[in-house]
Amino acid sequence: MWKGLVEHYRKHLPVNDSTPIISLCEGNTPLIKLNKLPQELGLSIEWYVKYEGLNPTGSFKDRGMTMAITKAKEAGDKIVMCASTGNTSASAAAYAARAGMKCCVVIPEGRIAMGKLSQAMIHGAVVLQIEGNFDNALDIVREITDENQISLVNSLNPYRIEGQKTGAFEIVDDLGAAPDFHFIPVGNAGNITAYWKGYKEYKDKGKITKLPKMMGYQAAGSAPIVLGKPVSNPDTIATAIRIGNPASWKPAEAARDESGGVIDMVTDDEITDAQKLMAAKEGVFCEPASAASIAGVIKYSKKNVFKDGQKVVSILTGHGLKDADRAIEISAEPKSIAGRKKDILKILEQYL
Ligand code: F0G
Repeated sequence: MWKGLVEHYRKHLPVNDSTPIISLCEGNTPLIKLNKLPQELGLSIEWYVKYEGLNPTGSFKDRGMTMAITKAKEAGDKIVMCASTGNTSASAAAYAARAGMKCCVVIPEGRIAMGKLSQAMIHGAVVLQIEGNFDNALDIVREITDENQISLVNSLNPYRIEGQKTGAFEIVDDLGAAPDFHFIPVGNAGNITAYWKGYKEYKDKGKITKLPKMMGYQAAGSAPIVLGKPVSNPDTIATAIRIGNPASWKPAEAARDESGGVIDMVTDDEITDAQKLMAAKEGVFCEPASAASIAGVIKYSKKNVFKDGQKVVSILTGHGLKDADRAIEISAEPKSIAGRKKDILKILEQYL
């Protein structure tokens, strides 16, 4: 029985026999091989998506949160706190509930997808909306957690990175090797940092001989690392990565440079097209931010640098249902018809 990633990878994580592990059986997410998309794009690569939307709260944040909340519990903290574009708050609220701790989340008002907000609320977090953006929220939360006995559970918390590095372990355990390219959306830049740490640790332990190129993708309206300077008013439909001054900026650049990868950006249109392609051609529903890792492959493939048979992994960081409003906005409207058999059959004629 799968007991969660801390149990499974405990020898790689900072826990001991007396650590009270707080888990919702996260991790062990599927690595799905894409069938149609490579063909349609004329690519002869072996392309996989890691469907992190299948974690308990619907995003990759659960990997880091199981560790962060476990360590906060071990330290005897009663309150945890985070700033969030949505998924971190959903995950923190759920794991805090599981641990019997209070959670406080600070979010940018009106910029959180409804699914994520509903999660923080139903799990009983103190939900505080501010007028500013994520970067402003994180500044406040850092100050408060520095000055009080409250655990910060954003990815600045090193235990978050420890938990999230297990995503790299799972990919290697599934493929028997590291992929040639690892495509990942970049917001606050914790996840690219964590995956790179995971791959390097597996290499140090002799489990792999070759490391992947780390390929990070920001949204064009929120691309500080690409532009080389903070963006004061970040904007994108991919609200999860609407971040102008990433906390893990330097480690993300290190991952890029040490691996020989790139950090680039994709437009909202490219993100939307990629999200629709994944859903319609492969049956995998991811949220807009996640689709940046698909749009990234499409953009990069135009440089004609992929070699036949190379292994490419895209991380689908969150489930599409998180932002159902957006999916409805970009999809064909339901048709209203009279409920008669012949009306329905008339519409289906073209597919028969
Ligand atoms: N994809 C999704 C779905 C996210 O929610 C996030 C970040 C990212 C990608 C980017 O990951 O920050 O590690 O580079 N969401 C954070 C939040 C900021 O508050 O939920 P990152």
